[in-house]
Amino acid sequence: NWTSESFVESTIAQLKEKLGDDKVVMGLSGGVDSSVAATLIHRAIGSNLYCIFVDNGVLRKDEFEGVLESYKHLGLNVKGVDVKEQFYTALAGLTDPEAKRKAIGRTFIEVFDHEAHLIEGVSWLGQGTIYPDVIESVSVKGPSATIKSHHNVGGLPDFMKLKVVEPLNTLFKDEVRAVGRTLGIPDNILKRHPFPGPGLAIRILGDITPEKVAILQEVDALFINGLKKYDLYDQVWQAGAMLLPIQSVGVMGDERTYERVVALRAVTSVDGMTADWAHLPYEFLADISNEIINKVKGVNRVVYDISSKPPATIEWE
Ligand code: XMP
Repeated sequence: NWTSESFVESTIAQLKEKLGDDKVVMGLSGGVDSSVAATLIHRAIGSNLYCIFVDNGVLRKDEFEGVLESYKHLGLNVKGVDVKEQFYTALAGLTDPEAKRKAIGRTFIEVFDHEAHLIEGVSWLGQGTIYPDVIESVSVKGPSATIKSHHNVGGLPDFMKLKVVEPLNTLFKDEVRAVGRTLGIPDNILKRHPFPGPGLAIRILGDITPEKVAILQEVDALFINGLKKYDLYDQVWQAGAMLLPIQSVGVMGDERTYERVVALRAVTSVDGMTADWAHLPYEFLADISNEIINKVKGVNRVVYDISSKPPATIEWE
C-alpha cells in the first residue's frame, strides 16, 4: 500500500546508501518534478547536491528571482546562473519553432556543462524524470529531456557521462505532488502550471528580441495574476499568452494606433495530450482584456483562443 510518507522514508534511505559521500549536480526548472526530486536528494545528502537554475531570458516575469528564493527557502544548495544574453544571441534572427527549440537546448547544454565543470569531483547527474517520461520516450519536458533530445549534437557533453539518479522515475504526477506535500514544498511550486522548457520563445511567434519578451512577460503576468485573483488558476491545467507577429488598428483618445495583438490561451486537461479550451467567465475575460490593453504599452488588442487539442496544440509553436 503506497503512501507518500513511506516513499519519502525509503527513498531517502536508498539515496543515502547509493550516493554515500558522492556529489550530485542537477538542473532545476522551477517545475514540480525537478523541485521534488532535488528536495529528496537534498534530504539524503545535503549540500553535496549542487543545483543549478538557469535564467534563459525567456522565463516568466520575476520567475528567476521568485523561484530562486523558494529554492533557498527549501534549504537547497542552488546557484542561479543569469545567462540571458547568451540565449538571446543564440536565438537572434531565428523564426522557425524547431530552430528556436534547438538553439535553446544547445545553449542550455553549453551552460550546464560549463557549470558542472566548476564542481570538483561531481559523479552523479540528478534528474526529475517521472514514470510517464520513462514510458513515453518522445515526451519533451524540462531541461532533462532537452538534454536527451540533443545529446547526439556534436558529441556527448561531459556531464552526460555522469551516472544518473532519478528518484521519481516510478511515480505519476499526482504521486509526485503528494511526495512534495509530505516534504513540505509550498503550493506555489506544487500547483504550478506546466511551462515549456523553451519558455516564452515558443509563445513569441517569429523572432525573439528582449523587447518582445518584456511585453509578453507583462501580459502573461497580468493574465496569470488575474486567474489567481478570480480563483481560476487551479481550475485550469495551463495558461499563458502568445505574442502574435501582426499589428492591428485601434483608437486611443483621438489617436489612431497600430499595435500588437496578444492571444490568451487557457486549457483544461488531464495530461496535456488532449485539452479543451477553458470556458473562462466572460466577466474575467472582459476585465483582463481591459487591464492588458490599458497597462501594457504596445498592445491594443486581445483575443482568446477557443481551439481544442487535437487538432490545435496547447502552444502555438
Ligand atoms: P503542445 O503544444 O504539444 O504541448 O500541445 C503539450 C505540453 O507540452 C509542453 N511543451 C513543451 N515542453 N519543451 C517542453 O519542455 C517543448 O519544446 C515543449 N513544447 C510543448 C506544453 O507547454 C504543454 O504543457
